[in-house]
Amino acid sequence: ARVEKAGYRHFMAKEIAEQPRVLAGALEHYLGDAGLALPEGLDFTGVDRLTLVACGTAHYACAVARYWFERLAGIPCEVDIASEFRYRDPVLSPRGMAIFVSQSGETADTLAALRHVRGAVGAVVGVVNVPTSSIAREADIVLPIHAGPEIGVASTKAFTAQLLVLALMALRAADQRGRLDAAGLERHLADLRGVPGLVNAALALDAEVAEIAQHVAEAQDVLFLGRGPLFPLALEGALKLKEISYIHAEGYAAGELKHGPIALVDSHVPVVVIAPHDDLFAKTMSNMQEVMARGAQVVLFTDAAGVAEAGPGVWRTLTLPTAGWLAAPIVHAVPAQLLAYHTAVAKGTDVDQPRNLAKSVTVE
Ligand code: G6P
Repeated sequence: ARVEKAGYRHFMAKEIAEQPRVLAGALEHYLGDAGLALPEGLDFTGVDRLTLVACGTAHYACAVARYWFERLAGIPCEVDIASEFRYRDPVLSPRGMAIFVSQSGETADTLAALRHVRGAVGAVVGVVNVPTSSIAREADIVLPIHAGPEIGVASTKAFTAQLLVLALMALRAADQRGRLDAAGLERHLADLRGVPGLVNAALALDAEVAEIAQHVAEAQDVLFLGRGPLFPLALEGALKLKEISYIHAEGYAAGELKHGPIALVDSHVPVVVIAPHDDLFAKTMSNMQEVMARGAQVVLFTDAAGVAEAGPGVWRTLTLPTAGWLAAPIVHAVPAQLLAYHTAVAKGTDVDQPRNLAKSVTVE
């Protein structure tokens, strides 16, 4: 069946808005009343190394998941871009698990990377949106993300659904390896069960983000900062913005600011700081103060506790709903998507079909 815009001006807007329903659907597949309902064969017990490989936005989902797998499950974890991974000499372990994440399941480099590890690792897992895709067919174990067709070239709902499925996988790993007691597991599961509602609340910031986007549309360069699992969100926020608005944007680990990007900061460079009130909040705030001291207009994505502690001088603050450690990156993806979208609309670019980009890159 042909997918329609259903009254939205762009597929991207429709796909952003769909996220609460999409995420609720993915939860229904993988989280029953009795707890996690992931494929039987997905066994992290003896795994000595995780290798996560993908391209583009899916690669950033993997980069978030590394923080989760390491902290929750204690598994050494490497993340790479498929086009680099396949041509370096990755050291693989027969007890390793390789996870390939792809919306389309057809990205040439990701598929080639999968073929490269086959036989050299214990298990090959595909996390895909298209269940009939090549990656789904060739993986030993497949976890469809159940996001439905994604038409906008810039990935949105597939990204948050990838994150959700990877978070559930990290919990399965932690559980199987005896790293979480029942109460700890239930606390994280409750966090994830809340995601559709939290994302819905984040979507209510739409008008506020649209107003901020009018200003961002004037910028030549935009910097995104984050720490921990929110660092890849800074990379994703910058990617979304450059893909569809053609504004130069860079994502940086907030702690790396001093090692380069701060040289570019002045009153013409908006800086988006992605900082829920987590264990790294104070560190990120001190980096935020450093860019504000150089005149930067800061757009802060945080939650109520963050607002209370951020201090004065922030140009615009978006108050997101309070989320747990696993849910926060998913929730903070929403304003990043909306900012890219509204900036592109303000600039009049082709949101769904940005120049030079393809939805699925099936040639190298
Ligand atoms: C293209 C798309 C991106 C996507 C990337 C990886 O660059 O424009 O939105 O993240 O490919 O695609 P995949 O289908 O493997 O997730």
